[in-house]
Amino acid sequence: MPQNRRMETLRHLTPLDRLLAGAQNALETVLGRPVAERPNPGQPQPDVVMDEAGRRHAAGLMRINHVGEVCAQALYVGQATVARDPATRAQLLHAAQEETDHLAWCADRLAELDSRPSLLNPFWYGGSFAIGALAGLRGDGWNLGFVVETERQVEAHLDEHLEDLPAEDLRSRAILTQMKMDEARHADQAEAAGARTLPFPIPGVMSMASKVMKTVAYRI
Ligand SMILES: [Fe+2]
Ligand SMILES: [Fe+2]
Repeated sequence: MPQNRRMETLRHLTPLDRLLAGAQNALETVLGRPVAERPNPGQPQPDVVMDEAGRRHAAGLMRINHVGEVCAQALYVGQATVARDPATRAQLLHAAQEETDHLAWCADRLAELDSRPSLLNPFWYGGSFAIGALAGLRGDGWNLGFVVETERQVEAHLDEHLEDLPAEDLRSRAILTQMKMDEARHADQAEAAGARTLPFPIPGVMSMASKVMKTVAYRI
């Protein structure tokens, strides 16, 4: 069954079934090859050959973005596993589905850049799933608050990467531009669905955790 349909059916399952479906999502995200539903926005752009330093830098940035998408999937699936309200759970699973496109596009670009995803993806997935499940246990307003904060932070960091990418890397640029628009929409939708603002110090802790992730994932 395609990942998206399986995520959809997650709504009707028992808690144990949900946990097992979450585990399956983990394996597919970390070890599988997710398939995008939308065409890769980088493909219409020319694949300009960069010098070695430029290629390595672009690959480091795209590896960070790939890890970000692994974390987003894990966070949302973790939250959905414990969400009480079916509408919130459906929204979380829908957000996770849309991140699958981003995950697949980043993986494609990493391969084009002769590079690879982070070797620590199982660790990133496990940590984010745990954070998502803990947030979800606090209630559905918190769940949506986490979505808003995550998406806003990702949006800001995509802006930094758009500045930082080698100018000739048009394919990565097109992918990140589309991702940035999607993340802004995810945040708006979660806000409209009743997200609460996360209290101090949670946004700062999330930002620090993502700085650690970015520093490590650039290389490993
Ligand atoms: Fe994303
Ligand atoms: Fe998103």
